[in-house]
Amino acid sequence: MEIYIKKNYEEMSRKAAEIVAEEMRKRKNHFVLGLATGSTPIGLYKELIRMHQEEGLDFSRVITFNLDEYCGLSPDHEQSYHYFMFENFFKHINIDKKNIHIPDGMARDLDAHCREYEKMIADNRGIDLQVLGIGGDGHIAFNEPGSSLSSRTRVKTLTQQTVEDNSRFFKTIEEVPKYAITMGIGTIMEAKICLLLVNGDKKAEVFAKAVEGPMTTEVTASMLQTHPRTIAVVDEEAAAKLKRKDYYKHVEKMAGLLKKRVNEKGKNG
Ligand code: F6R
Repeated sequence: MEIYIKKNYEEMSRKAAEIVAEEMRKRKNHFVLGLATGSTPIGLYKELIRMHQEEGLDFSRVITFNLDEYCGLSPDHEQSYHYFMFENFFKHINIDKKNIHIPDGMARDLDAHCREYEKMIADNRGIDLQVLGIGGDGHIAFNEPGSSLSSRTRVKTLTQQTVEDNSRFFKTIEEVPKYAITMGIGTIMEAKICLLLVNGDKKAEVFAKAVEGPMTTEVTASMLQTHPRTIAVVDEEAAAKLKRKDYYKHVEKMAGLLKKRVNEKGKNG
């Protein structure tokens, strides 16, 4: 896993946006971007919007797939992930609406819809880069503790902790949906790059478990340790409990020096 430890949330978001933009530019003709909701990626979306408005970053051919959606909330419900994505990202960039995919929490046949969602990802040749956040209980997407590490898109019952964590967005805890459609761990693991963002001291312990603890269904994010290319971009607070924090910083510095040397060599022939 590549780990970048940034000073604060703003720097974390900028670094993440640079990574997304670089991959987008590399795959101009076909880029499939997996997206997450929640508080963590808002800064990334803001920075990508700025890059679109000020630097012409082009989303016209980008295809997106969101990780998850609550069951029972219509797309115009203010707490639905549809609403979140349009408000925080899609309505500010030049994405073609037909390229946007978000699970439909109102689908009549939820199981059939989950299968169809998997098929749509496959028909688009898979996800190139998947943005991820981590939940307080170590989940990625809504793969709660105990989820199969090879699970596919399906309906999950949310844990009490997730319901409580998410109640900050609702007037009362009773209003928080108790089920969600979510990509599975197996689905996420097929993305070519996983970009995990983590910020704040509340996530320090669970992030250390995910990166340096044993691989376990108790912390489904720990499966990312086996992914061929996971990049974690985190702030200092979230990195506070990592055993190998100094080493990760050393690796980043050494990789930077190497890149500089290669560039200089290229310039001087
Ligand atoms: C959201 C998602 C979740 C969140 C996680 C962290 O699409 O998949 O796994 O990434 O719950 O949420 P925040 O960022 O609000 O702490």
